[in-house]
Amino acid sequence: MEAAPDEDDIVAALRGMGLAGPQEAVALTPLSGGVSCDVLLAAWDGRRVVVKRALPKLRVEADWRAPAERSQAEVAWIEFAAALQAGWVPRVLGQDRARHLFAMDYLDYPVWKARLAEGHVDALFAAEVGRALARIHASSARRVDLARAFANDAQFHALRIEPYLLHTAAANPDVGAAIRVLADGVAASRIALMHGDVSPKNILCGTEGPVFLDAECACYGDPAFDLAFCLNHLLLKAAWHPADAKALLTAFRALKNAYLAGAAWEPRAELERRTAGLLSALLLARVDGKSPVEYLTDAASKDFVRAHAKSFFVRPPATLDELSGPYFASAMAR
Ligand SMILES: Nc1ncnc2c1ncn2[C@@H]1O[C@H](COP(=O)(O)OP(=O)(O)OP(=O)(O)O)[C@@H](O)[C@H]1O
Ligand SMILES: [Mg+2]
Repeated sequence: MEAAPDEDDIVAALRGMGLAGPQEAVALTPLSGGVSCDVLLAAWDGRRVVVKRALPKLRVEADWRAPAERSQAEVAWIEFAAALQAGWVPRVLGQDRARHLFAMDYLDYPVWKARLAEGHVDALFAAEVGRALARIHASSARRVDLARAFANDAQFHALRIEPYLLHTAAANPDVGAAIRVLADGVAASRIALMHGDVSPKNILCGTEGPVFLDAECACYGDPAFDLAFCLNHLLLKAAWHPADAKALLTAFRALKNAYLAGAAWEPRAELERRTAGLLSALLLARVDGKSPVEYLTDAASKDFVRAHAKSFFVRPPATLDELSGPYFASAMAR
């Protein structure tokens, strides 16, 4: 475990950014999450602000490091999304590059993960997530300026390719070669701007639709990675709560269809095939990678996920329906 955040330093940063006055007493409360960062709610004089500071070593059991400069990538991604639709992200209030932190509006909304865990599976919301994600990818596709601004390949490798794909490949020699091909494909892609962590725990259910958080892995690359990363959580939730599998399938289709409807930057069949491949690997990664989902604890659920993920390497699905149909049908039958 890292040491507790240096509160005096955070308060000094808030004053330095011109947010808190020199005399104001600032109360800091850690927010949930915080695997890779200190995320704190700062309150003073009726104001509530979130401060996010990147840590050089992530709080997971495995040794997993990444440069703290990723804080700047996160702010840049938020600003890109805000220019498309302000409500899709929290407003950035200030940045302290030397301290690797930034401040943003505190938004008092539930995270999508919590809603899904309660069995509240809203397909309309899932469609909004898909639509927003496609718009962000479409607006960033084939943009040389963004490819240069978000050439964060080393960070993406450290935070995504190695822990999710290569670690999983090493743990599963039977499908390792196929996963390494997928990893190489993502690393070589320069198609659109990836958020890099589109997970329900990083999406707030706002009154006007989804709000995306946690873009510290943002990198120019393969939009299929984001789509697969997000859809994966709907598969995993069905292994966790089979009673919700039918609703999760509806949400999966709604998200996927809304996304594909907005994806015109490349042939959809190719995009979908790549997404299905990455989804197979990421599904396996969430039981055998460096960051397994914490809620699949029993061996039967892990085996269920592992067996399905591996079956997709034996007969690679060309479409997301080909992948999700048999998976959710088996989840419903559990
Ligand atoms: N602007 C915000 N408004 C409200 N809640 C927020 C805000 N930013 C972060 N949070 C809360 O704090 C949690 C952690 O934030 P974030 O995901 O950005 O940090 P992280 O350290 O990268 O976390 P993790 O590695 O666990 O995903 C979020 O899941 C959310 O619950
Ligand atoms: Mg997060």
